[in-house]
Amino acid sequence: MSFRVQPPAPARPNRCQLFGPGSNPKLFEKMAASAADVINIDLEDAVAPSDKDSARANTIAAINEIDWGNKYLSVRINGLDSPFWYRDVVDLLEQAGERLDQIMIPKAGCAADIYAVDALVSSIEAARGRSKRISFEAIIETAAGLCHVEEIAAASPRMQALSLGAADFAASMGMQTTGIGGTQENYYMLHEGAKYWSDPWHWVQTAIVAACRTHGLLPVDGPFGDFSDEEGFRAQARRSATLGMVGKWAIHPSQVALANEVFTPSEAAVQEAREILKAMEAAKARGEGATTYKGRLVDIASIKQAEVIVKQAEMIAAR
Ligand code: COA
Ligand code: MG
Repeated sequence: MSFRVQPPAPARPNRCQLFGPGSNPKLFEKMAASAADVINIDLEDAVAPSDKDSARANTIAAINEIDWGNKYLSVRINGLDSPFWYRDVVDLLEQAGERLDQIMIPKAGCAADIYAVDALVSSIEAARGRSKRISFEAIIETAAGLCHVEEIAAASPRMQALSLGAADFAASMGMQTTGIGGTQENYYMLHEGAKYWSDPWHWVQTAIVAACRTHGLLPVDGPFGDFSDEEGFRAQARRSATLGMVGKWAIHPSQVALANEVFTPSEAAVQEAREILKAMEAAKARGEGATTYKGRLVDIASIKQAEVIVKQAEMIAAR
C-alpha cells in the first residue's frame, strides 16, 4: 500500500438508482415504494425545456411530502451549460426540506464544474441554516469527463459517487451507436471467421472505478436503455460488478430487481469468502502467509478480496 491509504467509500448500499422524470409526479409514490436503494428525480434530459419550472416545483413538493423511507434521495439538476441549473440549486436548497440527501451533477467535465455547484450550495446552506450537508454525485458522460475523471472525483468533500452515462458519453466521443450501454454489434474481433464481441464501455468504466477508489467514492454504472432485454441488462451489470462498480441505474421499474440481484453478493460467494478468511486465519496461526483453498492459492491479498464481498453483504443485510 502507498503511504497514502485508500479511503473507504460511503458505507451505504447503492445497488440500484431508480430514475423518474420530475415532470411525471404520478411515478413518485411508485418510486418510493420500490426496492431501489437510491432515488433520482430528474430535472435534466428526461424533462422537456417547457416543463422545467413545473418539474422543479413537483420535485420540491415530492421531497417534502412523500415518505421516502430509508432511500437515499437525490435530484439530478440541469447541466452547467444550461440556463436552468442555478434555479434548480437555489429552489431545491431554499425550498426542499432536510430529507434531500444528494444533488446529481450531469455532464461534469472538470473539477471547476463541481466547485461552482459547491460554492452555490455552500452559500445557501449557510444562509438558510441547513444542518445536513448535501452530498454530490457526478455523471461521467463526456470526453472531457473521462479525461478529467480523477480531478472530478477529488473536487469536493461532498462528492460521494460517480456514474457512467453511456448515451451522452457515446455521443460526446463520436461513437457510432444509438444504443444506451450493452453489446455493440460492430465492436468485435474476428478469429478464424468467428466474431467475438468485446466491451466498448470497459475503458471509461475502469477509469471511473479507479478515480472513485482512489478518492473514496462509489462507482456506479448508469442506464441500460432496452428495458425489455433482461439478459442484456444482467450481462452489462455483471461486467460492471466484476470491474468494481457497486450498482446500476434503473430507468424502468423492471430493472430494479435485476440490479439488486447482480449487486448483492450471492450466498455462495459470501460463503466462499468466509471460508477463505477462515483458511487464512488457520494459515496465519501456523505462521504461513499463503495456503491452499479448493486447490488454488490464497494469500494475504485474498483476505482483502474476500473482505470486499463479506463487507458488502453485511452492509446490505444491515439495511
Ligand atoms: N419509476 C416507477 N414506476 C414507473 C417508472 C419509474 N421510472 N416508469 C414506469 N413506471 C410504472 C408505470 O407507471 C406503470 O405503472 P402501473 O402498472 O401502475 O400503470 C408500470 O411502471 C409499467 O410502466 P410501463 O407502461 O412499462 O412504462 P411507461 O410507458 O409508463 O414508461 C418510461 C416508460 C421509460 C417513459 C418510464 O419508465 C420513465 O419515465 N423512466 C425514467 C426515465 C428517466 O428518468 N430518464 C432519465 C435517466 S436516463
Ligand atoms: Mg446524460
